Amino acid sequence: MKKQQINHVTCRFASKSQNEALARSIITGFLLPLDPDAEELADMRCAVSEAVTNCIVHAYRNGDGIITLGAKAYSDRSVKIVISDNGCGIADVEQARKPLFTTLPGEDRCGMGFSIMESFSDKLTVISHVGRGTKVTLTRRLNDRT
Ligand SMILES: Nc1ncnc2c1ncn2[C@@H]1O[C@H](COP(=O)(O)OP(=O)(O)OP(=O)(O)O)[C@@H](O)[C@H]1O
Ligand SMILES: [Mg+2]
Repeated sequence: MKKQQINHVTCRFASKSQNEALARSIITGFLLPLDPDAEELADMRCAVSEAVTNCIVHAYRNGDGIITLGAKAYSDRSVKIVISDNGCGIADVEQARKPLFTTLPGEDRCGMGFSIMESFSDKLTVISHVGRGTKVTLTRRLNDRT
């Protein structure tokens, strides 16, 4: 049977560090009705946090900007989460996704954000245009509940 979309949410919020916790709360509230296990919930919270932090510190360089968080849930228990910004964009996405690659080495960044997002997802896609912004899409299928 073809999978059906069973729920969706889209939120737009300011690029401010206090909104990292807001983004974690939104994704938690979205996932809880799907009865995720503790590990799935922790993984998704962490992945969303990494993506939102990247929007704040890289895309908007701690300045003003808007971050969009979208989530969709499907009947096969898969979840698609999209985090997007209209910031500076990434010139070389393949390089940016490599473990330990960072453009802010002196600011307590270790270049592991994309690797963490990748390890916590079944699939991670990153689409970016310099000067226009970045869209990160994570998909993960939650374990079946019996
Ligand atoms: N939304 C974004 N807009 C612009 N550049 C980005 C964005 N997300 C990531 N990048 C670029 O990709 C690089 C790698 O990102 P990644 O999250 O893997 O590491 P980091 O943010 O540098 O360090 P860490 O996440 O470990 O603190 C960043 O250093 C930055 O240059
Ligand atoms: Mg990062």
